[in-house]
Amino acid sequence: MKALVLAAGLGTRFKSKRPKVVHRILGKPMVWYVVSTLRQAGIQDIGVVVGYKAEEVRDVLGDEVTYLHQRDPKGGTGDAVLSAMEFWKDHEGYLLVVNGDSPLILPETVRNLQRFVHMVEEYEGVKISCAVLTTFLSDPTGYGRVIKEEGTDRILRIVEERDATPEERAVREVNAGLYAFFAPHLKEVLPEVGPSEATGEIYLTEVVSLMTSRGMEVRSFMATDPTEALGVNTRWDLSIAENVLRLRIIRFWSDRGVTFHLPETVWLDPDVTLGEEVEIEPDVTLKGKTKVGPGVRIGRGSYVENASIGEGVTVLPYSVVIGATVEPGATVGPFSHIREGTVVGQKAEIGAFVEVKRSRIGSGVKAKHLAYIGDAEVGEGANIGAGVVTANYDGKKKHKTFIGKGTFVGSNSLLIAPVSLGDESYVAGGSVITKDVPEGALAVSRSPMRLFEGKGRKKLKD
Ligand code: UD1
Ligand code: MG
Repeated sequence: MKALVLAAGLGTRFKSKRPKVVHRILGKPMVWYVVSTLRQAGIQDIGVVVGYKAEEVRDVLGDEVTYLHQRDPKGGTGDAVLSAMEFWKDHEGYLLVVNGDSPLILPETVRNLQRFVHMVEEYEGVKISCAVLTTFLSDPTGYGRVIKEEGTDRILRIVEERDATPEERAVREVNAGLYAFFAPHLKEVLPEVGPSEATGEIYLTEVVSLMTSRGMEVRSFMATDPTEALGVNTRWDLSIAENVLRLRIIRFWSDRGVTFHLPETVWLDPDVTLGEEVEIEPDVTLKGKTKVGPGVRIGRGSYVENASIGEGVTVLPYSVVIGATVEPGATVGPFSHIREGTVVGQKAEIGAFVEVKRSRIGSGVKAKHLAYIGDAEVGEGANIGAGVVTANYDGKKKHKTFIGKGTFVGSNSLLIAPVSLGDESYVAGGSVITKDVPEGALAVSRSPMRLFEGKGRKKLKD
């Protein structure tokens, strides 16, 4: 089976300078969903018709599909399939054609449509020239209406909204934009479709009435779920499609042992993976290739992108974790910022208003309040006091800070990199450390405190 994706249109109703099909839904281009649905349905030979700003569509889909060019992006869906003749003209079997703006079609529906065609052929002994995916919508506005022979699933024609009579407009069965054409029959009929009087476009849907007038068999096949029919023509349609996909993904993980609190507020990209017994609180965003291990709890309002969160980790509310690894049993947050290239070791505790960038935090380390740790290596079991800062940037270059195992860095200390604190060393609070501290040493670097008896009260009264 071959498949052809139509992605050459101007997308006028979308009001964008970019092709409509490259706009993102949950971080992936709309057309990516169409191609990945076809792949999941077992179809490898995929052609994509491009035209308007073809380069941008190529950029998002890469070179694992065949590109065909439509010269006139206003030519219409029929013209798009004609422009791709090269791809299918010698094909003796079925050609699936799918709109690039139909991201909600499910892989199982694509599979079932193919099965349906084979079943009808086998059991009824008729050759299906075209099978069209349809569904019933309570509001069919904007879709092609499917006009059928009463009481059967034989389609007589598909009428576009603007050409429909009031009676036809009242029909609630719509064309979902996925077709299985017997390629030799399509080749015979498609070149004969004339341009629409209203728009001058060549409608692919016109093929249907031409086929039936020649005694060819056109059947409808019902979508598994009516949301599959959604064609994304406007930005609002995109928001709706994104919401449907988001809830599908949440449902998928929910069925695999993940609890979502207020799922309507949770954002989950399609490539995110979640372990069993994960608990996701409201307003959480999980993006990119984030992997979340079993038993993890992600607190309200947290944002996690391209991160790996190990088994049993707790991310307390309002934390941001991007491009980092948090090892099993660690705790992050509330209000922590864990940045790219960071590894937070097992059972470490990173607390409120602590920012960590490109650092290795050893297991059991505690940095629980108000610290900046950048380009550092922090040994096992070290304690980083409130307000500790690694001054890793001298205005020109970044430098590294090493903090030994079991080392204690007192509150509000400034570690000016490059600098190294040995294992089990001790930095007194408020110190400015500019030289290496040997293993086991105590470093104090601050002006001695002075006391003046009674002078405080006097100053207050002055
Ligand atoms: C189309 C169908 C309509 C169906 C609906 C489902 C036709 C004539 N109408 O309408 O019956 O109910 O989809 O969503 O087919 N494209 C090209 N080249 C073109 C024009 C369009 O490649 O010249 C591509 C677009 O990029 C888009 C797809 O074809 O991905 C569908 O085109 P669109 O203009 O959105 O068709 P609809 O009006 O939605
Ligand atoms: Mg459309």
